[in-house]
Amino acid sequence: MDLEIDPGWGSATLGIRAAEPRTGEREHSAAVHLTSSFVYDSAAQAAAVFSGAEAGNIYSRFTNPTVAAFEQRLAAMEGAQACVATASGMAAIMSTLLALLKAGDHVVAARTLFGSTINLFNNVFGRFGVTTTYVDPADPAAWSAALRPNTRLLFVETPNNPLGDIVDIRALAGVAHAAGALLAVDNCFLTPVLQQPLRLGADLVIHSATKYLDGQGRCVGGAVLGDAERVGKDVFGFMRTAGPCMSPFNAWVFLKGLETLSLRMRAHCESALQLAIWLRRHPAVEHVHYTGLPDHPQHELAKRQQKGFGGIVSFEVRGGREAAWKVIDAVKMLSITANLGDTRSTITHPATTTHGRISQEARQLAGISEGLVRVAVGLEDVQDIVADLARGLGE
Ligand SMILES: Cc1ncc(COP(=O)(O)O)c(C=O)c1O
Repeated sequence: MDLEIDPGWGSATLGIRAAEPRTGEREHSAAVHLTSSFVYDSAAQAAAVFSGAEAGNIYSRFTNPTVAAFEQRLAAMEGAQACVATASGMAAIMSTLLALLKAGDHVVAARTLFGSTINLFNNVFGRFGVTTTYVDPADPAAWSAALRPNTRLLFVETPNNPLGDIVDIRALAGVAHAAGALLAVDNCFLTPVLQQPLRLGADLVIHSATKYLDGQGRCVGGAVLGDAERVGKDVFGFMRTAGPCMSPFNAWVFLKGLETLSLRMRAHCESALQLAIWLRRHPAVEHVHYTGLPDHPQHELAKRQQKGFGGIVSFEVRGGREAAWKVIDAVKMLSITANLGDTRSTITHPATTTHGRISQEARQLAGISEGLVRVAVGLEDVQDIVADLARGLGE
């Protein structure tokens, strides 16, 4: 029997105890339902389930008990009425737009989004008549100025990738709602443990489960969260028909990941702050981007709307691309890879990897310089992460 969720539980408890699916076998850890379809006792029962007269699973493109457990647990953590799990974070963004927008609609988006999100908006949705205007996310007047009568969606990552700049979610939700538009927040960098955008007024939350929700760099997945109508009906309806669904095996991995999410996020935050402080004092480092630093211009906002500053530290090295690549090439322990949210620290050069396919002009506007290095701080001992980075910084 499923445990009842206590609304007073904290995110650590919810991550472990919300939606604990049990079969009749009395297993303690969740079973994984690796099945593409489900069977019935009779033609009449099949007809009843297919028509919706009787509750039940039909086919894992629509529903699957393991995927549903992940969806329910994440929804409980985000404070959402509904969650739809997807094959990847990009599938979550694509599904949201395809479910809720139509040709002729307009999107206003932060110009500091993950590179693939910008490509999706420009090169895919652009072809189907959905246009996007990009704005400086930190400038509230820019969001308002970009609104048009056909604006249906405001889209932001906060913190953003790779600089970690943040947006006042409550204020932006006000701008969106005054214009009759929805606000979608990509909450990939903080997870519900550190930030719950729906409670701050956002309408939709997007996740790349690939990152911290998994936490060990094993599976690709995503999720869309929001209310019962838009997400529970519209996004789910799109998913069921179009099929960018999450695999039950991946859902099981993410379900297990949620059990340690709270603990891991706290550890990522602690080490990231220590690394940021060390980098800031380093003579070879021109600038450190981390809202946890007390003199970061958005430190107070971060303290207000977040429960922690996250695990991503980006910094600019003096000497441009050559110096940045030298730091990356000198590491012996950190993994040179673009993924983040792993137990293992990762290091990447955003200008030539995650943001390499957007135009140079867009990169410049987003503040992604050639000397920028992004470290996703893992769970190794922080002194070992520091020592690995010190090599290429000339210490
Ligand atoms: C902020 C952000 N959103 C979305 C995505 C896309 O997620 P996925 O790689 O799971 O499709 C990423 C991937 O790096 C990301 O960093």
